[in-house]
Amino acid sequence: MKGYYGQFGGRFVPELLSPPLVELEEAMAIFLNQEAFKSELIDLLINYAGRATPLTFCPASSRELGVKLHLKREDLLHTGAHKLNNTLGQALLAQRMGKKKLLAETGAGMHGVATAAAAARLGLEAEIFMGAVDVARQRPNVDRMRLLGAKVIPVTEGTQTLKDAINEAFRHWIAHQADTNYCFGTSAGPHPFPELVAHFQAVISLEARRQFLSQTGNLPDYVVAAVGGGSNAIGMFRHFLEDAEVDIIGVEAAGTGEPGCYNSAPINVGRPGVLHGQLSMLLQDEAGQVLPSHSIAAGLDYPGVGPEHAHLAATGRVRYDLITDDEALDACRFLSIHEGIIPALESSHALAWVIKHAPEIKDRSVLVCLSGRGDKDLGIIQEAMEKRGLTL
Ligand SMILES: Cc1ncc(COP(=O)(O)O)c(C=O)c1O
Repeated sequence: MKGYYGQFGGRFVPELLSPPLVELEEAMAIFLNQEAFKSELIDLLINYAGRATPLTFCPASSRELGVKLHLKREDLLHTGAHKLNNTLGQALLAQRMGKKKLLAETGAGMHGVATAAAAARLGLEAEIFMGAVDVARQRPNVDRMRLLGAKVIPVTEGTQTLKDAINEAFRHWIAHQADTNYCFGTSAGPHPFPELVAHFQAVISLEARRQFLSQTGNLPDYVVAAVGGGSNAIGMFRHFLEDAEVDIIGVEAAGTGEPGCYNSAPINVGRPGVLHGQLSMLLQDEAGQVLPSHSIAAGLDYPGVGPEHAHLAATGRVRYDLITDDEALDACRFLSIHEGIIPALESSHALAWVIKHAPEIKDRSVLVCLSGRGDKDLGIIQEAMEKRGLTL
């Protein structure tokens, strides 16, 4: 069925949200495979965003861990994370559809910055909804969005994080659909967003698979990515899914890791349920109420996950493991010290999986999606280290 991945996905939205989603779906059918659209997007990705991003072998970390560690460097993409692959695609689509404005939600702020940049580049206005808690903890990104000409709207409902920002953005879209497209930031939400975002992010594995083969002559033994809503991970996985010899690992945030504490791991500890217009794995209580999530990485702090990941977990093609806040923080320091690369706390979850499992995967090759750079997280890293009696 269209918009479904196995039993997951769909479009569970109020009637008033159906027309803009159908309009978007129709525009995808017209433009995504059109030569003029594809060549303009490729030009933007290469000459504006800086693709192809490098594939970096990490010699010191590899020696230390006893594995062969390679990184796909989405941290080097313009604006500092993979998010721009998607926002350039969606901004171009909105422009072709005759829209004047982009609307977006953001958690860590990276999608907000990428939306603001794509809108500025393509002559569109941008309005970004962001939970008030995230506005406070990701301040540098708020300033970047404003400098790029976007309007940032703090959301004070609910837990004041990503989930609430998405609710507000959908509400706003209902009232402004004539001139506005919702530029959704991850491969989740109602159909067609999971497919649209995965389509634009698949460039990550398209490049990485070729680069890995040309640098090493082989495919990697493991491909690893952190899973928030799931866009960097699905982008990293797509072109490896048919390679049966490649083990694929999605990493969910376990939060503090203490029993009973909040986490952001719906595949590992959630149940099927509906949130933001999709049926997927979801953190919820006995009565089906959505539970608040927690992660040290603002971009992973979300109680749901994209439906394709829920399906890949159900079929067993991808294994989804857990990494705690402390393990991610240690991985962030490890890469900074050994390779001179400061990873985002989101990406540090994927790295932490390699560090934790190094003894079991000795001498194997691992490809990690370094989804973003860690500059935005310096304040959080410093605070977390101080709590543990450490300094930068
Ligand atoms: C650097 C980085 N990595 C990963 C994520 C998680 O999002 P997704 O699961 O859509 O890749 C975010 C979200 O903001 C991010 O900023």
